[in-house]
Amino acid sequence: MIAMSSVEYAVDHSGRHLEILRGVNLEVAPGEFVALTGPSGSGKSTLLALIAGVERATSGRIRVDGLDLATLAEEGLARLRRERLGIVFQDFHLIPTLTALENVALPLELAGRPQAMSQARTLLEQVGLGDRAEHRPLELSGGEQQRVAIARAFVARPALILADEPTGNLDQETGNRVMDLLFGLARSWHAAMVLVTHNPDLAARTDRHLRLEAGILHTVKP
Ligand SMILES: Nc1ncnc2c1ncn2[C@@H]1O[C@H](COP(=O)(O)OP(=O)(O)OP(=O)(O)O)[C@@H](O)[C@H]1O
Ligand SMILES: [Mg+2]
Repeated sequence: MIAMSSVEYAVDHSGRHLEILRGVNLEVAPGEFVALTGPSGSGKSTLLALIAGVERATSGRIRVDGLDLATLAEEGLARLRRERLGIVFQDFHLIPTLTALENVALPLELAGRPQAMSQARTLLEQVGLGDRAEHRPLELSGGEQQRVAIARAFVARPALILADEPTGNLDQETGNRVMDLLFGLARSWHAAMVLVTHNPDLAARTDRHLRLEAGILHTVKP
């Protein structure tokens, strides 16, 4: 599902050369769940941004769902994100002017799918928010907003979910419910997942646990 080999990511910032990811090799099989931990600034979000094609590697090779990202132009990368990946962020990233239902339907609308609204409604019901479809994000609790974001991430039936501290802004009980939902949906649809988390209990629930330290990837649990 993911194959990264010898990936480097460096930026020049304020006259300094920063090596943010160094020699990263990573293979994630279809349906596999991988936890990624590491100190703040170690490069976790950057690694997800490279897999999602939001940033481009300085060198090395990245394949996602069989596609070599270096061969894709911006439009191809946007399509990959929309149609094959589901992305969940710590701060939800919902569009404030759209209702819950419209937020969930958006990836399908952009892909020109005729059944967008009815499929979005089904997903919203699966995350337990069928009765909040017409609410805008500000009219929802944090946990509800994250459930909407999870519904949106799964609506196009992606083969890979990238989740960056998805419960970081939620209280523990709400966070646990949101994680149960995320794991349950990914398992039932055989999606692979890379989960960035600071929570060791969550990391223990995955198949494999990796850790980034200063841009170098280490194995914690093989
Ligand atoms: N475009 C950029 N320009 C300059 N520095 C950058 C850029 N992108 C990332 N960085 C730096 O790369 C490092 C890794 O950032 P990243 O956001 O990946 O860390 P992280 O592991 O996700 O941290 P956190 O746990 O705090 O979210 C940081 O030191 C950050 O300042
Ligand atoms: Mg981060």
